[in-house]
This record gives sequence, C-alpha cells and structure tokens, in this order.
Amino acid sequence: MHVWTHCRTRWLACSLVLGLAWATFTATAHGQNQLRVASPDGRNEVTVEIREGKLYYSLKRDGRAVLLPSQLGFEFRGAAPLREDLRVVGTTRNAVDQTWTQPWGEVARVRDHHNELKISVAEAAAGRRFDVVFRLFDDGVGFRYEFPEQPGLREFEIMEELTEFSLADNAQAWWIPSNRPRLDRSEMLYASSPISVMDSVQTPLTMQTRDGRTFLVLHEANLVDYARMTIRGPRMESRTLRVALAPWADGVKVRGRTPFVTPWRTIQLADRAADLVPSVLGLNLNPSSVIENTSWIKPMKYVGIWWGMHIGTMTWGSGPKHGATTENTKRTIDFAAANGIGGVLVEGWNVGWDGDWIQNREAFSFTQPYPDYDLAEVAAYAKQKGVRLIVHNETSGGIENYERQLEAAFSLYRSLGLDAIKSGYVTDELPGGHHHWSQVMVRHHRKVIETAAKYGIALDVHEPVHDTGERRTYPNMMTREGARGQEYNAWGGEGGNPPEHETILFFTRLLAGPMDFTPGIFDILIERGTGRPRRPEEPRVRTTLAKQLALYVVLYSPMHMAADLPENYENQPAFQFIRDVAVDWDTTRVLEGKIGDYVVVARRERNSPSWYIGAITDEEARTFEIPLSFLPKGRNYVAEIYADGADAHWLHNPLAIRISRQNLSAGSRLTLRLAPGGGQAIRLRPAR
Ligand code: NOJ
Ligand code: CA
Repeated sequence: MHVWTHCRTRWLACSLVLGLAWATFTATAHGQNQLRVASPDGRNEVTVEIREGKLYYSLKRDGRAVLLPSQLGFEFRGAAPLREDLRVVGTTRNAVDQTWTQPWGEVARVRDHHNELKISVAEAAAGRRFDVVFRLFDDGVGFRYEFPEQPGLREFEIMEELTEFSLADNAQAWWIPSNRPRLDRSEMLYASSPISVMDSVQTPLTMQTRDGRTFLVLHEANLVDYARMTIRGPRMESRTLRVALAPWADGVKVRGRTPFVTPWRTIQLADRAADLVPSVLGLNLNPSSVIENTSWIKPMKYVGIWWGMHIGTMTWGSGPKHGATTENTKRTIDFAAANGIGGVLVEGWNVGWDGDWIQNREAFSFTQPYPDYDLAEVAAYAKQKGVRLIVHNETSGGIENYERQLEAAFSLYRSLGLDAIKSGYVTDELPGGHHHWSQVMVRHHRKVIETAAKYGIALDVHEPVHDTGERRTYPNMMTREGARGQEYNAWGGEGGNPPEHETILFFTRLLAGPMDFTPGIFDILIERGTGRPRRPEEPRVRTTLAKQLALYVVLYSPMHMAADLPENYENQPAFQFIRDVAVDWDTTRVLEGKIGDYVVVARRERNSPSWYIGAITDEEARTFEIPLSFLPKGRNYVAEIYADGADAHWLHNPLAIRISRQNLSAGSRLTLRLAPGGGQAIRLRPAR
C-alpha cells in the first residue's frame, strides 16, 4: 500500500524498486535457493532447495513427481549432525557427452551424456561445508556428497547417512531383505510388495509406479571406502525410504577424513522394464580403467570340479571322495579342451577344508595343496592344453588370514601362469564382529582387486559386497555371485529356485552387474549325478533343459560356468549350444520383458555378426512373435533353435527339447513357444 501511493507520483523510478521487491518476494515464496538441473533429453529434472535451513532434493520425470522433497545430511559420532542451518554458498554446472569402450561387457560402447549441478552448502553458524553433486542422464540420476578439506571437519565418524528417497506414490517393489542374520546374505528369493510395507531391503531395489508409467531402481555406484548401502523401508504408511549403512563392530558406519567423497546414490529411470537393460548408469559414475593394458582380461566359459560337492558325491576336504585330485583335474581339463571351454575351476584343492570349514577360517592355506593335488603339474597340463585353471580361494570371511597370504599366493599363481580366481566369503560376521558389508569388508575387497590387478589376475567373487560398477576402473573384477544361484537347486530350501526366479533376477540383481549364476545343469532331477532317485522333499532344478541353455544369454556374466558334471554333457546334442554361445557382447536388446514373468533378450557377439537369443518364462507357458529386424538387411542367417519339446514342463517333463534349424533374415519373424518353466535358446549365424 505504502509503495503504491509513493509510486503513483514518481512512477518511473518506482517501477525499478517494485521490480526488485517483486523478485525478492517470488524467490522467498517458492523457496530461496531453488536450483534445477535436467537430463540432456529434458525428461528427468532434479530440484534442490533449502527449506528452513534443511537441504532437500526432488525428482520429476516428464513433469510428474517421482521423488518428493527428500532430505540430505549426516549424523556423526562426537560432532553435531550436519543437516540444519544450511544455506547455499555456491553452484557450478557442467555438461559431458562422451563415448567410451569397454574391454568386455554386455555392450561394447557406452555413452556418458549428462548435465551436472554441484551445490555447495554451509552451516550458517558453525560454518562446516559440503557439496552435493547431481548428474542427470537420460536413464537416471546419480548424486553424491563431497566434503572438502576444512578446519571444522577433519577426521569424522559417520553414524548415519540421512539421505532420503521420498516416493511420490506407493510404488510396487521387488526386493530381498537386508536384515536377516543368515549365512546366505543376498541369496534369498525375491518378494514383491508396495513400498509402504517394506522393511529393510537390499539394492538394486527395482520399483514400478502405481500408474505403471515409470520404473525406478535405487542403487549405488563407485563404493570404494564407505559402508555398503541398504534401504530402510518407510515408517508406517509413509513412502520415504532411507539409506542404511552396514556397521563396524562398534556401530560406526564410516570412518574418514576430509577431503572425502561418498559413493553415488543412483536412481535409474525407464518407461518399460525392458528398457532397464543394459544398465550403464552406474558404470558411467565410476572412474575409467586404471589398468592400461586390458588385453589379458578375457571372458570365458568354464567347467569345474564343483557340482559334485554340492550334490554330495564329492568332498572339498580330504578323504575317499576328495574331488580335487590331480587325476580328476586332468580329466576335466581334457573335457574342456575337447569342447572349446576356456576354463576349469577346481574347488577343495588347498589345505583347510577338513572339519567345519565355515568356523575354521584361519586354517585355510592359499598356497598349500592337498597331497593328492599337484598344483604345478595341473597348471602345466592346463597350459599345454590351452585351458585356464581357475584357482579357488574360499576365505569363510577370514579376511585377515587371506590378506596375510595375499602377496605370496598371488605371486605363486602368477608364476604358474594362473590368471583367474574364484573367491568366497561364506560367513555371518567378520573377525572382530564387523558386518559382512561394512567399510572394513569394502576396503578388503578393494585391496584384493588391486593386488589381483598387480599380479594379472581376474576375479569372480562369491558372497561379495554388491557390484557398484568396480569393473569400469578395474576390469579384472569380472563377475560375482551376490544372489541366489544354481547351487540352491542342489541343497537349498523351498525345493530349489522357483520357475519365476531368473525372470526377477534379470530386472533386479543383474542391474548391478554380471552374475556368476552357474547355469547349464542338464541332470535336472539330479539323479544321474547322484546315482539314485530324488526324494520328493529334496530340491531339484525347476526349469526345462531349454531354459538352462537360455540362461547363458539372459543372465549376463563374462565368466559363465557349464555347471554340471562333465559326464552329464556327454552325448547330449543340447550341449552344442553351450559350446557355441558367446560370453562377450557388442550389443544387447531386450525384446520382451515383464518382471517375474518373462524375458526375451537378443545379444550380438563382440567382433562377430552372430546373434544369440535367450527367452525364459516363469511357471506359465508363453508364446512370443519376434521380428528379426535387428539383423543386418540383405544377409541370410541360419537359426539353430533349442526349444522346449511339445510336451515339455518343468515339473513332469523337463528334458523334452527340440533342436531345429531355420533359414532367416531381417524381414523374418520367429515364433517362440515356451513351456511352463521353460525357455528357448537360439544361435543366429550368417549362412555360408
Ligand atoms: C559358496 C559358493 O557360492 C559356492 O560356489 C562354493 O562352492 C562354496 N561356497 C564353497 O566355497
Ligand atoms: Ca553362494
């Protein structure tokens, strides 16, 4: 009122004053310091703002809210929390568009195209500072905290990371729990529920909004020196998910000193489940390779002395059923060489397995073989046959025992020409009581990856900390387990993995990175291998034979096992597909996919015109019409088709398989018929 009166008389000067007043007013009404950054295609947009001294971010896709304002901050031991009295003190922006090549992978070339907004905030009174960096990609968002070096924040102990993901609706989620104190850790069956009833869960956490229009996946990238992230479900009726961190024995989550950066928190976004794969958001948020010459890091298929232990016909420990003998190993190497399989895994070769190997973790030697296993001799034999011997290092979580021997063991392996290790961490708790996913374990894994790189050794890690894209920086970190794999069909509860299991893994666990699932069990009933009929209460493989083949294409791993006993592959025409199938891909296309129901994926082999198709279904029979428009025009292809037989059924007729050939080209359509619990595997090679 006062301003208006004044202005009526001196209108020109006043319009300036008014303009300023108005600008200040809008800024205050809509939240001062509201900042925005959008993805290159403009569809994903993050808004960052301070409200009453607290820092929030929110996320929209196509103008619709995906995440409502969600708080950021930390709680420390021995210092005030960092979450209040904040103001924005600076911003910087950046844009990147570059394409890089993977040494091996699900796709050869990856485009890193993003817009970055870095916000610097400081406490108004106490003056501690930190930055939050947001990177907006067309396929999602990554953000992380950075703590610059500063007098008020040097050494710190994080008790809680306060990052929230406040979902705009009660999305449907596919999850495994994170708070069950059991040996199997990530090796559970998935559940699906609205997020409002979720408790504590692991990532990748895949969700679909109620309107069905958006799929989002929470995970993390570049976990180097921090605790592994899990997600705490909402309080009753809330939709706000929160970061939870695995603790050291004394309850501290992360120990650090400035300058310090956290891992990236990632939110992958897609319109359809099928568009979630291939998932490269996390790879783009990891630093590029520190290994300059990666030519020695080669994907492979492998067989092994392994399944016998799981079905009880062999032992890891010494005795009459000891699997890892020189003789057995040579026979397995012969089998691999004769069938063009690149590697042989031998478990139970080293001293330490006798007695309770899970409890006696200090007893493992990583250099001393059992007397009936001549390591040097089998290594030389493998080399002569052109086969790579994969060394097994089960630690039972005894990381101190392992670290003490690391240099000696890895240099021994190198001296014998051995360049791949499968490691294992079967344990509930680390020595000293630290959590299996704590910063202590994250540091251990990094140390092993670096040491392995130094000795020219590739890794396949079981019972790991989840994959956060380490393979970009260290391409020798090839594959890992970290989910319920085939082994559960030998001895697991619930009768083995249910037919839907792999159709969920594809859209959840596999979004983090490759998985050593170990497909290819042909003795579906586990009767030939054990030499006795299976009792109804015992677990078994709950797929058809054709589905076992399809898993080589569907579940990506640069090290893929042909898991069955070699003798179970003898005289099996279906084994030809395992001989042929590629393990390194140029291109990946998901043709059909519904979480928990089915997946059809086509992949082109790296440096080759050949394509492979893998299709899997849950307990329902399904038919798909697949256009082959991904093939190059004007070139004729031969399709070698491994389909479920007419009466195939995972329960009563799992072995019925129909192997056929068809001449096809880009204009053709293929009809895929999948039996209940079935699948189909196809090799498409250029006609000669
Ligand atoms: C669990 C692993 O997943 C399995 O592959 C291995 O055989 C055993 N641990 C023994 O190390
Ligand atoms: Ca396991």
